Amino acid sequence: MAEPVTQKWSSQIPGGPLNEREFRQWRELLEHRVGIQITEQRRRFLQTNLSLRMKEIGCGDYQSYYNLVVDSTSGLMEWDTLVDRLTVQETRFFRDPAGFDLVRSYLRSRKPRSKAFNLWSVGCSTGEEPYSLAMVADQELGQSSPCRWSVTASDISQPALSKARAGKYPQRKLQTVEPDILETYFKCEEGWCQISDYLKDRVCFIRMNVLDIDKSPLGDFDIIYCQNLLIYFRRWRRKEITNHLAKHLAPGGLLILGSGELTDWHSTELTRISSESSLAYMKQKA
Ligand SMILES: C[S@@+](CC[C@H](N)C(=O)[O-])C[C@H]1O[C@@H](n2cnc3c(N)ncnc32)[C@H](O)[C@@H]1O
Repeated sequence: MAEPVTQKWSSQIPGGPLNEREFRQWRELLEHRVGIQITEQRRRFLQTNLSLRMKEIGCGDYQSYYNLVVDSTSGLMEWDTLVDRLTVQETRFFRDPAGFDLVRSYLRSRKPRSKAFNLWSVGCSTGEEPYSLAMVADQELGQSSPCRWSVTASDISQPALSKARAGKYPQRKLQTVEPDILETYFKCEEGWCQISDYLKDRVCFIRMNVLDIDKSPLGDFDIIYCQNLLIYFRRWRRKEITNHLAKHLAPGGLLILGSGELTDWHSTELTRISSESSLAYMKQKA
């Protein structure tokens, strides 16, 4: 996957190459606070993004920048900016068609027996995934139907969440979206498409670190959709997060992960269900 390096390495950028101690220090901080693993292959990515940020704020060396991030109270704001730079936010509408097919058939089959559906997009990035879920929910549950539904969408990146809340996307990012969906849920002009207020009102964006799910006050969900997030974590952590997600699944609920993101995970309460390219589990009914 391409890393979002914003600028080519140049001699004017402060910091220079990260030495072993500095690399280890930053790597440990990121893994401890965010869970993401910075492998040796991503060292250059870390170095480039740290240096670019240090240049922006006029900080000359990695250690001073590290101290700023961990020590001072203003470090909290700086940390937010840095996390945004160091997380991969690549996403698109209806990214995994098989995953959305699962959501569609689940809602269709449950609709006659349920009055309300709560969906959760975990690691929602700039909103394309939760809005896609909302479009499927609206199509299946209908605007005039007695079924209520809502989508909760969470991410660690504040800038990504701001873009998600704005719900405004360049038209070129919607080339793969079906024309009838475009017509129903977007208003497009001058190369930009705005999500309809109707849909926006049903999607609630919140800031949440997946490492803190166990402390979250969120209730239970009928569908939890978490794709392309666990891949950045170590295997033991993927399992731990999935255990926490499973606890937030309502009886009979559906958990959808990305294909290959979790291996060797078992739960006494959840059963694996077959899907073309997604990894999905269903919780036993009460
Ligand atoms: C590659 S995007 C995936 C977006 C979307 N789920 C998809 O599949 O298209 C990964 C997202 O996970 C978020 N993320 C990374 N670490 C996180 C953490 N510890 N807690 C919450 N979100 C995190 C990033 O900010 C980013 O928006």
